Formats: sequence, structure tokens, C-alpha cells
Amino acid sequence: MFCIVESVMDKVGNRGRLFFDSLCSFQRNCIFDVLSVAPISNHIAFIMDGNRRYAKKWNMVESAGHRVGFLALILILRYCYELGLKYETVYAFSIDNLKRKPEEVQALMDLMEEKIEGLMKEESIVNCYGVRVHFIGNLKFLNKSVMVATERVIVATANNSKVVLSICVAYTSTDEIVNTIQRSCD
Ligand SMILES: *[C@@H]1O[C@H](CO)[C@@H](O)[C@H](O)[C@H]1NC(C)=O
Ligand SMILES: *[C@@H]1O[C@H](CO)[C@@H](O)[C@H](O)[C@H]1NC(C)=O
Repeated sequence: MFCIVESVMDKVGNRGRLFFDSLCSFQRNCIFDVLSVAPISNHIAFIMDGNRRYAKKWNMVESAGHRVGFLALILILRYCYELGLKYETVYAFSIDNLKRKPEEVQALMDLMEEKIEGLMKEESIVNCYGVRVHFIGNLKFLNKSVMVATERVIVATANNSKVVLSICVAYTSTDEIVNTIQRSCD
């Protein structure tokens, strides 16, 4: 669906885009008003999947696919916040993903660092919607600079209380089972 919107917007130019945006947001508000009447879930989790398939389909490099995936995520999170959902969890990066080509892993790490840093900016969705950010996973698998960025954003958003965004990075069930057993033994 996003691709259709994109290609329409390419054709209508900037002024058309503004019109299209406000039309979409008007429709969205109407739909959300209707949806919010019924009880809605408190917690939604998203699994980021298909970025590479998307890139292949549109003849893009893999890292571009991940970037588009991130944009789609931010869009959907914004909708969740507008709907009043309090908890969102994103499965972003599993330990198994580290087995991919080194260039792709590095590109993913760079993207993560850039986007996590971006969350701390004044105009980011984190500040717009009062989001507290958590990271779940074995963070020692991340590159140092990414780990530092995660720690900074956790501290920077610690006092936000409207919504909670948990980002799962460097997770995998086997690693979690081992960690859990070790901790239980301790
Ligand atoms: C980043 O982390 C990956 C996977 O842990 C590793 O292969 C890579 O060498 C690291 N890159 C840097 C610049 O530290
Ligand atoms: C969060 O609140 C604590 C206690 O009121 C304060 O010390 C800290 O500086 C605040 N952090 C931010 C990022 O505003």
C-alpha cells in the first residue's frame, strides 16, 4: 500500500503531497475516532520482517530495504500513539541476524545507531508522544557505539510516562534460555 501512495505522490508533486497528507490524516482521524469507541488492545508487538525481500523486489540494496522498513515502523507507531495504545514492542534485530554478510550487519548497526540517536532529537516521535524507550536483549552483541546510544536514549526518556516502546535487539530464544538458567542458578 505504501508503494502505491509513494508513486501517486511522485506524480502529484509537493503541493499535491501536502493535500494528500492532510486528506490521509483527516481520513485517519475519522477511522481512529470510530475504532477508539470499542475497547482496544493495550499492547501491540511488531515483528520487522521482509525488508530484504522488499529491497530485492524493488531492486534496492539491502540497507535501503532496512531504511524503508524503519520508515514504515515510525509511521505505524505514530498511528498506535494516535489510537491511544500504551505499549508497543518491536522485534528489530535477532542474534541470528548477526550471521548475515558483514557489510549488511555493519549497515544495520549504522542504521540503528543513527535512528536511536534520532530518537533523542527534539522533533522525534519520542518527544512528540512522551515515549519511554526500553531495549530488550543481550546488548553486548551490539557494536559499542550502538550500545552507548541505547543507554543514552534509555536515560533521556526515563521520565516519559505516556507510552512505552520496547525495542528487542540481539535476542534469540536459545540465548534467552541459557541466560535464564544461568541467572536462576545464581
Ligand atoms: C559490529 O558488530 C558486529 C557483530 O557483533 C561485528 O562483526 C563488527 O565487526 C562490529 N563493527 C565494529 C565497527 O565494531
Ligand atoms: C528525570 O527525573 C529525575 C528525578 O526527578 C531527574 O533527576 C532527572 O534529571 C530527570 N531526567 C530527565 C532526562 O529529565
